[in-house]
Amino acid sequence: MEQTRTLTPRTAVIWAVLRAELDRRAGERLSVLDVGGGTGGFAVPLAEAGHRVTVVDASPDALAALTRRAAEAGVADRVRATQGDADALTGLVEPASVDLVLCHSVLEVVDAPEPVITALAGALRPGGAASVLVAARAAAVLGRAINGQLDAAAALATDPHGTAGGRDTLRRRYDAEGATALLTAAGLAVEEIHGVRVLADLLPAAVADGQPAALLELERALAAKPPYRDLAAQLHLFARRPA
Ligand SMILES: C[S@@+](CC[C@H](N)C(=O)[O-])C[C@H]1O[C@@H](n2cnc3c(N)ncnc32)[C@H](O)[C@@H]1O
Repeated sequence: MEQTRTLTPRTAVIWAVLRAELDRRAGERLSVLDVGGGTGGFAVPLAEAGHRVTVVDASPDALAALTRRAAEAGVADRVRATQGDADALTGLVEPASVDLVLCHSVLEVVDAPEPVITALAGALRPGGAASVLVAARAAAVLGRAINGQLDAAAALATDPHGTAGGRDTLRRRYDAEGATALLTAAGLAVEEIHGVRVLADLLPAAVADGQPAALLELERALAAKPPYRDLAAQLHLFARRPA
């Protein structure tokens, strides 16, 4: 599965967490829901591993690309593309029918994250797992400051939602505590938190491109360890609906 793809600092840590869950359930054909799954960067490899994946996404263009990608990979029969809104999942997915939900890089762009998390928790079977990736506030503050955008850094640090104001492309950012509270309030038990891209965005391109294997190894080594974890560009939470 993911071994057939190029692992990057964006994907390696998440695949390691997902791999552990798939190994735990080896031999089962899982029902997977990818909310805001876009063009299928995770959905298609999961289908290639034999699982049935439904991608719900608001963008018809993304879903068209997903459908092409699934066909090229020979897994069109295991990938369902559904156009819809993340906070209307209850009308699109049968409650308690899914073994694994992915929600990557979506909570920071939707109108409101609470109904989305509540809906995806409701879609999970008891014992099912959620893989949630969110933008992190601290890295954004440091990134703006390093680029000389001190006003934006100050706004990001103090804004209740972790945005830099008008031109910010994201509607919110998280720290580990805030993201954990969001999932916990929806009845999910957070089992693991990792930082994704602890170093990748800080390095000069020559270093990142010149030593990709060393960078990946270092990202993996630091991902679970505060304070490094909490300085990552994104936070990955792995949570479970109690059985
Ligand atoms: C940044 S992309 C992430 C794609 C994919 N999850 C990934 O990690 O590569 C965000 C995706 O969420 C979708 N999206 C944004 N708002 C949405 C909403 N309210 N409901 C469903 N999908 C949404 C977009 O169309 C886009 O495909």
